Amino acid sequence: MKVERRCKILEKTVLADGAVSMTLEVGDMVRTSFKNPGQFVHVKCGEGLLLRRPISVCTCGEGDPSDLVRIVFEARGEGTAWLAARPAGHPVDVLGLLGNGFPMKKDGRYLLVGGGIGVPPMLGCAQFAGVKPTAILGFRSKEKVMLLDEFADVCEKVLPATDDGSFGYHGFVDALVRQELAENKEYDAVLACGPKPMLRNVAKAAEEFGVPCLVSMEERMGCGVGACLVCACDMADGSRKHVCKDGPVFDAKEVDWNA
Ligand SMILES: Cc1cc2nc3c(=O)[nH]c(=O)nc-3n(C[C@H](O)[C@H](O)[C@H](O)COP(=O)(O)OP(=O)(O)OC[C@H]3O[C@@H](n4cnc5c(N)ncnc54)[C@H](O)[C@@H]3O)c2cc1C
Ligand code: FES
Repeated sequence: MKVERRCKILEKTVLADGAVSMTLEVGDMVRTSFKNPGQFVHVKCGEGLLLRRPISVCTCGEGDPSDLVRIVFEARGEGTAWLAARPAGHPVDVLGLLGNGFPMKKDGRYLLVGGGIGVPPMLGCAQFAGVKPTAILGFRSKEKVMLLDEFADVCEKVLPATDDGSFGYHGFVDALVRQELAENKEYDAVLACGPKPMLRNVAKAAEEFGVPCLVSMEERMGCGVGACLVCACDMADGSRKHVCKDGPVFDAKEVDWNA
């Protein structure tokens, strides 16, 4: 069941390079609509703007008197800049939890891969996993690196990478995915969230090793609930699926990577 409610911002902190972490008091939203890690919330951003903005759930949990959802986002345009300026204690209008997320099994062995602002939702996956996962986390540069300590608390191994080599491995995450899959044959699946070119390369690396790969896709959204077609994503079989309702997580083999 999807719930729309006014949620109090319980806590707001600024992470690396301006990324904002917000913990929201969401009533019974987690109890009533949590399916898997990797779902998202649709947040009304601004008084005058008609459209909501989709933000992935970083972590969430049931609570008394209120469930909590943490989101981490960057101010990219008008909507997210408005949200970033809300102080703790203020309410925001949230629709959620939406989408299907990553269908994780408690006893699964997962290689988690995040890129940029696609890193935060992988923390929820890491916390959910029953077997400590490995996380490969890519950032543009060391100024953008975030959440490493929190990943270290719940992961077997955390491998950071930066595009410019200023922190961790120098290069893109798919090189680390190949390295990890070559060394360790026991992964049940690779789960990835990040920009589309990164997802395509990670999917290719996983396919080379015969390991299933699930990817969280980003498209612009309107309604967020399957009613408007704004978020259509091209599939390899020629069909189009709604990222909001059918996703945002898809089997990498389903996606048309050339679209
Ligand atoms: C399922 C899903 C989960 C997301 N999770 C997060 C998250 O956890 N943290 C986070 O920071 N952002 C996330 N995003 C992206 C976020 O929704 C956009 O940054 C936001 O909608 C931009 O709105 P705006 O009004 O601030 O900017 P706008 O003025 O609308 O756009 C600013 C810039 O961002 C680009 N843009 C806008 N929306 C998207 C999009 N969906 N994909 C790619 N580029 C876009 C625009 O083309 C433009 O260049 C997610 C998107 C989706 C679809
Ligand atoms: S955003 Fe309207 S159908 Fe997906």
